[in-house]
Amino acid sequence: MRTVFWDPDSRLLKMIDQRRLPAALEVIACRTAAEVAEAIRNMTVRGAPAIGAAAAFGLALAAQESRAADPAGLLADLESAARTLRASRPTAVNLSWALDRVLKSVFIRESATESVDDLRRQALAEAQQIANDDVAANRRMAEHGVALIDDGDVIIHHCNTGALAVVDWGTALGVIRLAHEQGKHVHVLVDETRPRLQGARLTAWELQQYGIPYEIITDGMAGHFLQRGQAQKVFFGADRIAANGDVANKVGTYMLALAAHDNGVPAYCVAPASSVDLSVEDGSEIPIEERDEDEVLGIQLHGERAAPAGARARNPAFDVTPNRLLTAIVTEKGIVRPPFDVNLPRFV
Ligand code: MRU
Repeated sequence: MRTVFWDPDSRLLKMIDQRRLPAALEVIACRTAAEVAEAIRNMTVRGAPAIGAAAAFGLALAAQESRAADPAGLLADLESAARTLRASRPTAVNLSWALDRVLKSVFIRESATESVDDLRRQALAEAQQIANDDVAANRRMAEHGVALIDDGDVIIHHCNTGALAVVDWGTALGVIRLAHEQGKHVHVLVDETRPRLQGARLTAWELQQYGIPYEIITDGMAGHFLQRGQAQKVFFGADRIAANGDVANKVGTYMLALAAHDNGVPAYCVAPASSVDLSVEDGSEIPIEERDEDEVLGIQLHGERAAPAGARARNPAFDVTPNRLLTAIVTEKGIVRPPFDVNLPRFV
């Protein structure tokens, strides 16, 4: 099952409800672009490539919903829906990238047709293509990246970069998955990934399906294992990569990469070219989403809220890892090595 997919019978976008995992595997339907925007905001669907694909299908839904009588009216409706979808989460550039790709394809088609239905079909076809391209890109990233994993490696992995974070297969976790399929013995130390626990809930659930041995660690434990020589590689994904190779990813990635660097352990970022934003020179320009403090304060211990009543919290959802801490960036086009400011723009 894909994480997000178009259901041709109901003509609705369907997606795995990632808020319910691992307790329940449920699929929900989105009927409108506004519902898709809300699903992205509340993290029913999450992970940079997955939200890009969901947003693209959101525009297909907007085209379907539109009552416009002519192409110009339809384009205006699509632009309005794109504004709502674009505002749903700010950090992952895949969201804007996918919206722009659908809008552009409809604009181009508009010059060749008078038919509103033709444009509706075009929006859906482009969204489908984005989803299919994502699956193909994931497979290629895995094929390139698998050479970086040795038999017997213990790998620290941050957040969830598996099939759930993309349309299918996975980025960083996809590389680990292919290494396992090729018979390499790997063991994953899964950062639980506070506060939303994408590691403990989603990565652990995926690794269980694939039969890959793992143990969950709290984010703060990674430094200990790296220092003791008990982890040989660090793998994570990206929500946006600046032109110089600085990587915005799930909060905690920076500290993990720092600890890896301090201990001479290679740190690999695996992400599709659609996560690279060449319009952003370095990581300081990447917008970092601040989420509700309740995500931090809601943690319970022994059935009760851990924080005292009245406590306040900060909740940046991402941080930026400077390029100097990265050993390589794996994309579907190949493995990019330093100097990233020179090599990354060439690759993508
Ligand atoms: O807040 P999330 O769960 O959407 O954040 C996801 C991540 O940070 C992932 O590591 C990133 O999107 C890469 S997923 C292939």
